[in-house]
Formats: sequence, C-alpha cells, structure tokens
Amino acid sequence: MGQGVLMTSARRLDVATAGSDRQAELFADAGLSRNGMGELLLGGVAVEAIAREAGTPAYVYNTESIRRHYDALTAAMGALPHRIHYAAKANSCLAVLRVLRDLGAGCDIVSGGELQLALAAGFTPDRIVFSGVGKTAAELSLAFEAGIGQINIESLEELTLLSELARHHPGSAPVRVGIRVNPDVTVDTHPYITTGTAAAKFGIPADQVLDAAKSIAGEPRLLLTGIAMHVGSQLLEVGPYITGAARLAELVGTLRGAGIATLESIGIGGGLGIRYKDEVPLDPRDLIAAIGPITAPLALAVHLEPGRFLVGSAGILLTTVLYRKHAGGKHFVVVDAGMTDLVRPSRYNAHHEIVVARDRGHAHRHVDVVGPICESGDFLALDRPLPLVEAGDILAILGAGAYGFVMASTYNARPRPPELLVDGTRWAVARPREQLEDLTRGERPDCFGGRAASP
Ligand code: LLP
Repeated sequence: MGQGVLMTSARRLDVATAGSDRQAELFADAGLSRNGMGELLLGGVAVEAIAREAGTPAYVYNTESIRRHYDALTAAMGALPHRIHYAAKANSCLAVLRVLRDLGAGCDIVSGGELQLALAAGFTPDRIVFSGVGKTAAELSLAFEAGIGQINIESLEELTLLSELARHHPGSAPVRVGIRVNPDVTVDTHPYITTGTAAAKFGIPADQVLDAAKSIAGEPRLLLTGIAMHVGSQLLEVGPYITGAARLAELVGTLRGAGIATLESIGIGGGLGIRYKDEVPLDPRDLIAAIGPITAPLALAVHLEPGRFLVGSAGILLTTVLYRKHAGGKHFVVVDAGMTDLVRPSRYNAHHEIVVARDRGHAHRHVDVVGPICESGDFLALDRPLPLVEAGDILAILGAGAYGFVMASTYNARPRPPELLVDGTRWAVARPREQLEDLTRGERPDCFGGRAASP
C-alpha cells in the first residue's frame, strides 16, 4: 500500500468572529441558554438547580440536542438507502441508547459488554454491527447467539476463528460478515484517534480483501454482507471520506468481478466532528453530497457509525469550585471534577469550553482549571480566560456528551459521577452516582483466608 494521503487544513472560524459568536454556536449545539438573571439553562432546566439536587460532579445530557443531531443526519441522507448505527462507545448510558433506539437508530458495538447494553436498551439484534480489532471467541459466539446484523472482521486470523466457530454453531441462518478495510487514509486529527492509516492496527489492508472475501464466500455458514471503513474521529473535512469511499468502491468492483455478489452495504464509519471551540463542524449534507455520487452506482445501502456527532454537544459536566489559589505566577481554580471524570483534556490535550452557571458579569482572568487528583496532568483547562469565580460556584464543561463518562475511572477511589437526562423542562437521574460500595463490590480483603499472601 502506498503512503497515506494527507488531509490538512481543518476549517476554523475566523479569529475576528470568535468570542461571543463562538459561544452562541456552542450554546445552540447543546441547547444551552441564559435567562434574564444570568442563569445557565440546559433545555428548559437551570443547571444550578440540577447541581443542588444531584450534587457535582454530574453529567447532564440534553435529549433535545441528541434528537436534533439525529434528525439532521437522517435529513441529510435523504432518499439514499442507509442505516445509522450509533457508536455506543461514545456514550453507553442506557437511557441515551434508548433515546437513539426510539429515533430509529441501529447500534455499532465493539465488545461483548456493549452487545449486552445494546440488547438491554432494546436494539433489535439485526440492527447491531460488531466491529473491533480484538474480539474474543466468547464475544464472537455471543454475537452469533444473539443473531446480530453483521460482524465486521478486522484480520485474516479473526476470519479463521470466525469460520471455525460458525461451523460448530448450530444456528440455521448463516452469520452475516462484513470486512472492515483499512483504506490507508491519513487524517488531520489527534494521532490517538486516527484509525485509517496503513500503519494503524484497524481493518484489513486493501490487498488482502479479495482473499478474505473469497474465503467468506467459500464458507457455507458465512455470508459476506458488507464492506466498511472508519478513518478517524473528530473529522472536519470530507476529503478522507471521499478517498476512503472511493477505495471501498473500487474493492466492491473487484469483488463483484470475482463473482462475489452478496454485498448489501458499504459502511463509511463514524467520525463526524463537532464544535468544541472554534471548529466548523462537518455538515452532514456536505458529507452525503460528496459520498452519494461514489456509493449510489454501487446500489448498496450506506451505513454510518456516528458516535460523537449524535451525543457530544448534548452533554455537559457540572462541577463545583472548591478553592482558588495563586502559585508560581499562576491562578488556579480547583474544582471537584478531574481527569477521572473527563479525561479528554489531559489525554488528548482536548479543548472543552467552560462556562459559569451564573453569569454575574465579572471580569475575566486567565486560570488553570484543575481537579483534585494526585497527578500534575489532572487539568480540565490550562491558561483559560474565565470570569472570576469563588468557592461554591458551579461551572459547566461543554461538549462532554461523547467520550466523557464512558472513559471515566475510579482512580483515587473516586466513585463515578451520575448521568442525568434533561428533556424540555424535565430532568431525571438515568444512572445514580456511584457509591463507595460500588468500588469495592466483590473484593476479598481476606482472599488468603486471613493468612499472609506470601511466606
Ligand atoms: N466506528 C468505529 C469503528 C470506531 O472506531 C469509532 C470510534 C466510531 C465508529 C465512532 O467515531 P465517532 O463518530 O464518535 O468519531 N476517545 C476518543 C475518540 C475515540 C474514537 C474511537 N473510535 C476521544 O475522546 O476523542
């Protein structure tokens, strides 16, 4: 395979239009607003009221924003035969999964655990697609038994295992298999969330796809139903999708030329980027306008696997200011949420906008917003202009609906935050705050029966 094609120049707002316009757009994406008293509302609910009752830190998701993003995507797909499989990894809160299921989405999963969550949320098995580079035999068997819509294989060795398992599996219908192709496309995003370059661990290299397809076609218990890719996450340009889809289309031609005519779908992955700061998100209409002409002649359904686009802007993380301090020429705001609750700033150097829950018109000052974790890398924002705040003030961290709670940990013995849903003027607890008992459940302090562990 040749060099990856470099896609650069992410679109960003003009510096001149930054500031309040930028915040207005972020607010619109999330469904945030301020009332006459300067109170921050998510949907029709004052976030301070939520924080008072539910405590902080707390994740809050606006169902209206999720619905609006889903509707925008289906509207963009128009008459193109398609299916949207929500990537559950972005946010697998059961109530969020349920919202998306009710909207008509299918589900993209990457583990046996996500399979069980998807089924628990009510997705029908035929609308579930299973990707992932390291599926175990147990996970593959679980997927067979559930009769899921498609298993996307990511290596030839996985295909060998799948064939063996399928032969021994008593089910009557053949197992529907997709090939996840590595399209060798380099994208302009954080290296940790680039997945479609030749050197990435994901997908089957294009030059091995025909062999893989032939061995699937030769297995009576397997049926090749899809060809798919996922080139990366937080993408702001259509270029990588065009390059990748063109490569898939070429492969479809090769497979059909070899007499393999069972394909039903072409999957273009997820990856649609959202606005965290001053990005101009990829408009799904632009994506479909670019992809449609490539996929339409193939007469296959287009499968999408968006995660972040559907839920990212809809979520905020509420946190309380604990202390302020001044040290080494810096101003710190210490809050009760940290990298254990939202890891994206410290892991990817990601920008998450932070706003005060009550705007008192205070002057701004550059501060580091840091958490209580015993790690220097525990920050939510560095050198960020923020209105003067004091202990007890509530802050909202925006863009926290995707890869927020799902990446939270209990490091420093910190129970994970609750997940709450807002719908119009109502709000409810979808997942209660973890308790200390949750952290130690199943532990056996006397695992050696009270004797010392070693002589
Ligand atoms: N499909 C596959 C095969 C994927 O690997 C992913 C994401 C998606 C779909 C959904 O991508 P999305 O539409 O959400 O961009 N933790 C990182 C993101 C990792 C994404 C991994 N794969 C972050 O916080 O930015």
